[in-house]
Amino acid sequence: MTTYIGTATSRIDGHAKVTGTAKYAAEFDAPHLAHACVVGSTIAKGHIAHIDTSQARSVPGVLDVLTHQNRPRMASDDSAYKDDVAPEGAPFRPLYNDRILFSDQPIALVVAEEPEIARFAASLVRVDYRVDQHVTDVHRQRHSAFALEPVKRLDDNPFAPPPSRGQPEHSLAAAHARHRGEYYVPIEHHNPMELYASTVVFEDEGRLTIYDKTQGVQNVQRYVASVFQLDPSHVRVVSPFVGGAFGSGLRPQYQVVLAVLAALALKRSVRLVLTRQQMYGLGYRPAMLQEIELGVNAHGALEAITHEATTVTSQHENYYRQETGWSGLLYRSDHARYTHKLARLDLATSCDMRAPSAATAVYALECAMDELAVAMKLDPLELRLRCYSERDQHNDRPYSSKGLRDCYRRGAEAFGWSRRTAEPRSMRDGTELVGWGMATGVWEALQVPIAVRIALTANGHAEVSCATSDIGTGTYTIMAQVAADMLGLPLDNITIRIGDSTLPQSPVEGGSWIAASVSNGIATTARAIRAELLQLAKAVPGSALRDLAPEDVVLLDGQLVSKHDAANAVSIADAMRHGEVDRIEQEKTASFHHTGSHSHNTHSAIYAEVKVDEQLGIIRVSRVVSAVAGGRILNTKTARSQIMGGVVWGIGMALHEETLIDHTFGRIMNADIAEYHVPVNADVHDIEVIFVDEPDDTVNPLGIKGLGEIGIVGVAAAIANAVYHATGKRVRDLPITLDKLQR
Ligand code: MOS
Repeated sequence: MTTYIGTATSRIDGHAKVTGTAKYAAEFDAPHLAHACVVGSTIAKGHIAHIDTSQARSVPGVLDVLTHQNRPRMASDDSAYKDDVAPEGAPFRPLYNDRILFSDQPIALVVAEEPEIARFAASLVRVDYRVDQHVTDVHRQRHSAFALEPVKRLDDNPFAPPPSRGQPEHSLAAAHARHRGEYYVPIEHHNPMELYASTVVFEDEGRLTIYDKTQGVQNVQRYVASVFQLDPSHVRVVSPFVGGAFGSGLRPQYQVVLAVLAALALKRSVRLVLTRQQMYGLGYRPAMLQEIELGVNAHGALEAITHEATTVTSQHENYYRQETGWSGLLYRSDHARYTHKLARLDLATSCDMRAPSAATAVYALECAMDELAVAMKLDPLELRLRCYSERDQHNDRPYSSKGLRDCYRRGAEAFGWSRRTAEPRSMRDGTELVGWGMATGVWEALQVPIAVRIALTANGHAEVSCATSDIGTGTYTIMAQVAADMLGLPLDNITIRIGDSTLPQSPVEGGSWIAASVSNGIATTARAIRAELLQLAKAVPGSALRDLAPEDVVLLDGQLVSKHDAANAVSIADAMRHGEVDRIEQEKTASFHHTGSHSHNTHSAIYAEVKVDEQLGIIRVSRVVSAVAGGRILNTKTARSQIMGGVVWGIGMALHEETLIDHTFGRIMNADIAEYHVPVNADVHDIEVIFVDEPDDTVNPLGIKGLGEIGIVGVAAAIANAVYHATGKRVRDLPITLDKLQR
């Protein structure tokens, strides 16, 4: 029964958010709350020789200044700092010792009665360093022969490059036409609206309730208990609302460690809010250098592809994702080689950022495909259709569903692609050059084990709880829609509880996997509720459901109804009254094991129009059409918002975003959103989102694939290709700023 699933239901938390009643981590209060401020290192690598906190301590209202020398006890073993999604290596441990691993690393924490006092006193902490030589320039690192490490291909490493196939070098040498290109994506930062913050409430017997900005309350709960060797039941992490995170909140961030340190030192509640500038000392999208070579045979079909990526990580951890194999999902080619290297820099560890790896790797791939089409004098869409893969090239298996052809077609129709003239600089609008470009997007449809509890009361209200988060994607709303349909209740009768580590088990909200996982979790638990209700209903005197099995009944309009004859029904209220219960509760874990017979992916086709001022080189993205095949769409309104957000971010990736480092100091120069440019309203014009039908009962029982990340993939390539079409100038390193166009 689908009354709510698939509709444009407005966010159930929308009212709370726009009226300010939705509370974020830094907005929770506690009696006697102290405030902390971080002091960051001014060097990128070395040791603290001496740290003088006396002046800071003398400021009235300062309660303490914590450093590695006087902090409370923390675990000494690296492994205690491994959170659920930590990469290989030794995680950063704030205030642990005198070592400096990156610029603006936290080295002291001032705690005071007021935040302003803490901030002022933090400016008075004096530090002497023993400075070591740092390296923060990936281009320099790349040309030093010993600085790059190949990512190893181990059986249990899903992030390693896929195995090579055929004889790519041989095939390329014999190719009818080939294209080789080098593409660069700089470091980018997430810049969520909500600042990183933790409010640690110090309770009786040292119990802690931590309001934290995170994408995974249970991940933070386990991590804090481990780092401080606390009884896990004494640590509760709460995060009912998240003001954006985009991957930056998958791992626990250092402010939660520091806030807990201060609370334990003072035996008092403490709040720590990072400044916007300090958030540039957390993770980032790794800069990525890519070399791609493509070869086609005499029939104009792709034969060979080689893709080599170099990505940035820290000296202490190996963060990377599977970057190079996306072409194997999109295009048929018998010969392929994928390699991935890590460049270690003296920076914080890189981390996931919306569509990690696909956003960057598909950018390069889809620009390379465009260049190949130009070389072949072929329409770029036609080239993609010629190379269309019906099977995953890595495993030689089919897709559970792949609506990409429909995306190409419907996107092209909506955009008017057939009216494109092939020659660069051939389309104009007054003084502006017009360019039309297109690209493909691809992401994974993942599902993770998750537990959901449903408590149903006799008055037909249900509370649905799970420790997942809503990072702004609309999780509250889709959970309510699915629960309402599965339980046959009005949407308003559903209460959703999430973002609390004491609720049923959930992994971090990431990878676009929560919508499918939690929906199937709700469906699974709702089935158990229905079975229990049926037992009660059968006991009702004269019950028309006496001979029915759970599969024979549905919950509809507050009643248990026979699927075979809608006249045979028992109301929830009657069933519970006769059973003398006023509430039933079930908790089930849903996990869905794929047999490995199919690959599961989402896809998109993006068409972009740019208008370029010929004199000044100013680029405007005047139109984008994004056609998405993402399985069953739970909510057409929140889904569209997800894709639009991804497109906007793709505009930023193509034209604006770049974290700039002064390599002399190893320090980020544009650590704020005045100088780190993101698209603003004036940069965003017409965006059309199309969802193609993509029924899929193999990916999971409800056919849900997830939409959090597919929206950004391919957008930067479509825009870059449009810029080439407008100007005849191919810029391969992002962002495409006007100086690069003029060169
Ligand atoms: Mo997403 S980068 O897994 O939050």
